[in-house]
Amino acid sequence: NETQEIRMSLLDWYDTNQRDLPWRKRRSESEKERRAYEVWVSEIMLQQTRVQTVLEYYKRWMLKWPTINDLAQASLEEVNEMWAGLGYYRRARFLLEGAKMVVAGKDGFPNQASSLMKVKGIGEYTAGAIASIAFNEAVPVVDGNVIRVLARLKAISANPKDRRTARNFWKLAAQLVDPSRPGDFNQSLMELGATLCSVSKPSCSSCPVSSQCRAYSLSQENRTISVTDY
Ligand code: ADE
Repeated sequence: NETQEIRMSLLDWYDTNQRDLPWRKRRSESEKERRAYEVWVSEIMLQQTRVQTVLEYYKRWMLKWPTINDLAQASLEEVNEMWAGLGYYRRARFLLEGAKMVVAGKDGFPNQASSLMKVKGIGEYTAGAIASIAFNEAVPVVDGNVIRVLARLKAISANPKDRRTARNFWKLAAQLVDPSRPGDFNQSLMELGATLCSVSKPSCSSCPVSSQCRAYSLSQENRTISVTDY
């Protein structure tokens, strides 16, 4: 059916076209918690900052604190110093407080979105990213890029000021996420939005899902929607 075709097209495209980014380094099954920490740090950095800028910060961060145990022993001063230039310093403090919480707990790294959301600074987006990418939980991840991709794919017009709009995109993403490869599927949507499915002049001729895209078939590929309060 259509959902399965969309999943297959996106995953095949992602397998051959994903950008080589340091937080996508392959990790073995036994390194899930290490992967979870890497996803956490990278997703928090990426929330307000471009990939190009995050690359250098991420590399320096991981040299200094390669594991969550290392981070949990850092001071707020060290963390703020490492963050200097990234802005929104609250994110750095939450990372440190979150790392301390996880390390102080008895159960190791929370491995489900619902338990991750109890950690300082981890909301639905970050929880979904960590749970799906590191622990293979079939939960969605929705950011501004994903909303634009889905709005085009399904030709959705929605009022971005309505709080129900964001909820509806989370519901749609939850129905679409591939249960066998949720992390790669979520990243394929984010990756598509960050590359081909751009805000202006999307590259539909190279897009893996153009034949399933309702906006494309309606010649409404410039359709976009910005939801600020999701
Ligand atoms: N932007 C933020 N996180 C991302 C990810 N995991 N993949 C692609 N783009 C992203």
